[in-house]
Amino acid sequence: MTDLAIGIDIGGTGIKGAVVDLATGELATDRIKRSTPEGGKPDDIVEVVVELVDALAGEHRDAPVGVCFPAIVLDGRTMSAANVDDAWIGLEAEALFEKALGRDIHFVNDADAAGVAELRYGAAKGREGLVLMTTLGTGIGSALINRGVLVPNTELGHLEVDGKDAEKRAAYIQKERHEWSWEQWAKRLQRYYSHLELLFSPDLFVVGGGVSKHHEEFLPLLDLRTPIIPATLRNNAGILGAAALAVKPAPVA
Ligand code: BGC
Repeated sequence: MTDLAIGIDIGGTGIKGAVVDLATGELATDRIKRSTPEGGKPDDIVEVVVELVDALAGEHRDAPVGVCFPAIVLDGRTMSAANVDDAWIGLEAEALFEKALGRDIHFVNDADAAGVAELRYGAAKGREGLVLMTTLGTGIGSALINRGVLVPNTELGHLEVDGKDAEKRAAYIQKERHEWSWEQWAKRLQRYYSHLELLFSPDLFVVGGGVSKHHEEFLPLLDLRTPIIPATLRNNAGILGAAALAVKPAPVA
């Protein structure tokens, strides 16, 4: 029997999910997506997740469920709220989802899920050593994985660079908001990635988020000694990683 799990990726603008074939990292169903309810309040988001899981579970009632979310997740609690409603801070989020769904779930940070997926199925597959994945979107997410073992909740999007929160300077949404050219944005990315390189000396940077499909426009503009490559799983990375972690929380390789 194929190993299947349901992955749900909660973001600031959309909530998406699919059933995942864990052996191949392929989606076993179509991906379904809903808009994140205005304001991103916990009860409203839970309602959407219940609807998605019900729709996906279909014949896969017993499939484990993994959910990822853009916040620090400690023992099932969300401990931050950078781009979501403050009501998530300190909330027993995993328990809230489990109660509404009537089943156990595995609940993790979204960038951690994406990093695990890229290591297992995507750009970093087979790469040893220290892999630092960053997602460039509304915020900057990070996943630090050393020899296949995830160090969770690194939150490197909130490093202070030039006196400011890094994601406020260099997230993709800032490029859009300020209508920066690729070159203007790359200058900010250069500051950010050189700082990460100085602090962590990783063996590999993986750059994810929707913008990674335009990697030719900005990755070649960066001058780093660490190889820096685009993620390959794009918008499915969170779904795949959440599903993978639902079955085997750690280590990931
Ligand atoms: C949050 C992280 C999240 C990242 C990407 C940041 O603002 O603090 O928890 O991983 O955005 O969504």
